Amino acid sequence: MQSVDRSQFPKLKNDLIIRAALGETVERPPCWIMRQAGRYLPEYHKVKDGRDFFETCRDAEIASEITIQPVRRYAGLLDAAIIFSDILVIPQALGMKVEMIDGKGPHFPEPLRTVEDMQKVLNYHSDVLKELDWAFRAITVTRHKLNGQVPLLGFCGGPWTLMVYMTEGGGSRLFRYAKQWLNEFPELTHKLLQKITDVAVEFLAQQVVAGAQMLQVFESWGGELGSRDFDEFSLPYIRQISQKLPLRLKDLGIHEKIPLTIFSKGSWYALDKLCSSGYNAVSLDWSWDPKEAVKINADRVTLQGNLDPGVIYGTDEIIRKRVEEMISGFGGGKSNYIVNFGHGTHPFMDPEKIKFFLEQCHRVGSL
Ligand code: CP3
Repeated sequence: MQSVDRSQFPKLKNDLIIRAALGETVERPPCWIMRQAGRYLPEYHKVKDGRDFFETCRDAEIASEITIQPVRRYAGLLDAAIIFSDILVIPQALGMKVEMIDGKGPHFPEPLRTVEDMQKVLNYHSDVLKELDWAFRAITVTRHKLNGQVPLLGFCGGPWTLMVYMTEGGGSRLFRYAKQWLNEFPELTHKLLQKITDVAVEFLAQQVVAGAQMLQVFESWGGELGSRDFDEFSLPYIRQISQKLPLRLKDLGIHEKIPLTIFSKGSWYALDKLCSSGYNAVSLDWSWDPKEAVKINADRVTLQGNLDPGVIYGTDEIIRKRVEEMISGFGGGKSNYIVNFGHGTHPFMDPEKIKFFLEQCHRVGSL
């Protein structure tokens, strides 16, 4: 396991996103994009060179290079880097096998289907520092290589979203197994969600020790739960993360404020609650009219989002208009709003169009 001398990290030259996330009105909305590194970039394929996805994440040199690629390509246009990794490393730290199949996505050869399967994970002693040692190394190397140009974001999956992958065995349309667990074995479900939450808190805290300067929790399947089940199976665990993380960071000797963002995709019914869940920022998918979200938020948190990624397939004229509408909807350039997509980039996107989008965000955001 590595030991990190945090005093040796390069000085941060662009702290726009940190200040915005902590509620400061900044000179222009900071910009980053979910999945800003990855398959739409030709330089990603070049470096990945046909390697297995998780092998790529585990190699600190390669993972750091891929993380920095978009920052380099869009020089001066991106205000954050996000470490190249995946939310599915927590199930791996809980002893589960996860494969990434080209063109298909994640695959768990042994998903949780029986009470015995569940007990096995519940009894697994996860030493996060040891199991995810490679993830912390990649963060430390990347933080040094970034040389303070922009902050480095760490992340993890939301407990409910991770449970979906662990029980379904991959992506899903019906969520048959995950929903069966919720409704047939709610007590075991809560135990699993608690176990994932405990690992998530430790994983996030150790990412900060390793060099992460801001954190995001991705509850990507939040919208699959209705309001009632979200309140029982997602929100309490999301709240635990925001409550326990600062305590754990203090324990670890970290006293600076580390901004924390929650992205719960499709949870339109929960925005009011998410704004009072102890997070600094709430990231929105594109179903939201920014003005509505601003009203509901009532200045409690920093809002992030929410361009429909599909707009990137549009004409320059449409992209320009959508950027103007989005930024003015969130309160204009001088605010604490953070530009992002409502979900990740697609592999088919033209990197030049994304550049145009970012340039427009800078133009409109600086008005
Ligand atoms: O640039 C970044 O945003 C950082 C890296 C990152 C990846 N995954 C890399 C990745 C991040 C933040 C994630 C998070 C993630 N992973 C989420 C939450 C965000 C979201 O999209 O909702 C989820 C649900 C996953 C699980 C996952 N990983 C899926 C469903 C897939 C397959 C589908 C897809 O988009 O490819 C992955 C694979 C994955 N994660 C890739 C990348 C670059 C593609 C792998 C490849 O190169 O073949």
